[in-house]
Amino acid sequence: EAQGPLAGKIIAISAGGTREPLDPVRFLGNRSSGRQGVALANAALAAGASVRFIAAHMDVPAPAGVELSTASTARQLQGAVTEAARGADVLIMSAAVADFRPGEYQDSKIKKSDDHADPVITLIRNPDILATLVKQRASEGEAGTLAPLIVGFAAETGDAESSVLEYGASKLARKGCEMLVVNEVGENLTFGTTQNSVTILFADGAQPVAAAGSKDEVAVAVLTAVAQALSTTGT
Ligand code: C5P
Repeated sequence: EAQGPLAGKIIAISAGGTREPLDPVRFLGNRSSGRQGVALANAALAAGASVRFIAAHMDVPAPAGVELSTASTARQLQGAVTEAARGADVLIMSAAVADFRPGEYQDSKIKKSDDHADPVITLIRNPDILATLVKQRASEGEAGTLAPLIVGFAAETGDAESSVLEYGASKLARKGCEMLVVNEVGENLTFGTTQNSVTILFADGAQPVAAAGSKDEVAVAVLTAVAQALSTTGT
């Protein structure tokens, strides 16, 4: 029997970055390493939870001791995440999902044309997995089995108009999830590094929680907030 603040809980965690193919050899991807997702999984396991880990492309191995599923594109990840969120207590969406994909996939490698014309790639929108799940959960109502606690991640840069936290707060409202882990990103911040600095925002109006340090330390802070949220809602 697992022990700890999350004993008996099922936590689904998505991690890594999606890849959207252009042709059999090329893709559009992103710099997500999967490290924060692995750290979240290890923190959840240490707190006694069962972990369903949905891995997109990662620079690091998936953690041991999880129920593992894999996905490459955003649409594949959507299927895998939706399945993993069924019957789970918590879903944490730490994966970096491509917002766009090439409108057309070429079955054979795109060739340089004889007339030296520059190829044009048209991008189309991918589904927003998180926002779609929140809507689906609402439409299923009381009898639904999708995770009652959904945690999003948001990488933001501040600008002259609004701060990172203001952007985070409006994203939390827009996505409709229960918690949002906001981090400030820039050229030398967060992506591919081992350090992270985040603020955890809550839809129920609870005070934001700041956490900084290694991705392991940030993961512990996120899982502590999750355990706290589960105990106050009694789910
Ligand atoms: O809108 P933005 O990409 O900043 O939102 C980030 C959060 O939404 C992350 O939790 C990410 O996993 C999730 N997301 C998603 N589907 C997308 C884009 C982002 O679930 N197409």
